[in-house]
Amino acid sequence: MTASQPNAAAAEPHVMKTYTRLPIALSHGRGCRVWDTDGREYLDALAGIAVNTLGHAHPKLVPALQEQIGRLIHSSNYYLVPGQEQLAAKLVELSGLTNAFFCSTGLEANEAALKIARKYGHDKGIERPEIVVYEKAFHGRSIATLSATGNAKVQAGFGPLVEGFVRVPLNDVAALEEVARTRPHVTAVFLEVIQGEGGINPATIDYLRAVRRICDERGWLLMLDEVQCGMGRTGKWFAHQWAGILPDVMPLAKGLGSGVPIGAVVCGPKAAGVFGPGNHGTTFGGNPLAMRAGVETLRIMEEERLLDNAATIGAALKAALERELAGVSGVVQIRGQGLMLGIELDRPCGELLARSADAGLLLSVTADRVIRLVPALILTHDEAMRIVAILCPLIKAFLAEAPVS
Ligand SMILES: Cc1ncc(COP(=O)(O)O)c(C=O)c1O
Repeated sequence: MTASQPNAAAAEPHVMKTYTRLPIALSHGRGCRVWDTDGREYLDALAGIAVNTLGHAHPKLVPALQEQIGRLIHSSNYYLVPGQEQLAAKLVELSGLTNAFFCSTGLEANEAALKIARKYGHDKGIERPEIVVYEKAFHGRSIATLSATGNAKVQAGFGPLVEGFVRVPLNDVAALEEVARTRPHVTAVFLEVIQGEGGINPATIDYLRAVRRICDERGWLLMLDEVQCGMGRTGKWFAHQWAGILPDVMPLAKGLGSGVPIGAVVCGPKAAGVFGPGNHGTTFGGNPLAMRAGVETLRIMEEERLLDNAATIGAALKAALERELAGVSGVVQIRGQGLMLGIELDRPCGELLARSADAGLLLSVTADRVIRLVPALILTHDEAMRIVAILCPLIKAFLAEAPVS
């Protein structure tokens, strides 16, 4: 079976149809390579959608997780969980913030952030707090996070949406200043430093600094969703660090546990004390297995200097893509930083998913026309060049044949 034959649904009649899947079942992986159940090998430039920070079956991570599973997978937040303090202390050290709350997914981290923003307002006497959110944003698929998301397709069919959001375009300081002038009940600004699902759209450094300034002037919380762009992917621990600013609230997930479900909300002094006992909780969040995965991921990232690798290999990958695709009609822009890159085409290109899988490369297409590359941070130079060698001819062939819609 090839990836271009879309009969995955027939293979799983009992699974709810929330995804249009390729008919490929992955069986095992090693580094940046994975194999399917038919023995076909793929180069993995998706990494489980920016999750497998250390690639697959990392030789230092696997024994650590095995040891943890043999000892204690889950206890309860009714008791102390030593791994929570260990991971929180490390995240505090890396971020310059002060405290962390742990959950299991990105949307949960964002839900916690939204609750913090509302309670922060209530604590100041604002009865109906509002949160500034962004066009093309993606924050998750719970009712609150899809309401914060700036994508009509994600919201369609799920009204009534949660109220209390004010939406602005990214990188438009005047629009945010207008909100500051006209909306007295705003308590927070909530944005991705690089919009992932929205098409790899970076907030500029100047914009991030301006948002920080406006938040300071107004007493608003700056909440940066680093679920996709954080955890070393851009070459710094957190993408906002390129702008030299500190957020007040930073949701994390995806790459933090190298594939073990995990989420975190890291807070600075303005936000860390907003929740008290009974205000928030989760059964699975912060369990010993997830904490071990987080601690080991960060340790291995430091040991193997993976931030430097993400920056260097990412820059080489971007430069090679720019070289290969220079002057190709239909290529609109190549964007992103480190190992979070997007190639925008002038037309929807979802079919490249199957074609690239058939050619031995896993990737994703987001916002209909943006090819997204978010490989593991262990990607080598040779592997980066192999991505270019497989992908660029596919893009050129696709653009030569597909009509602009
Ligand atoms: C920026 C961002 N926030 C939140 C989420 C939601 O994370 P999860 O799918 O773990 O709920 C995603 C997922 O793609 C994301 O990219």
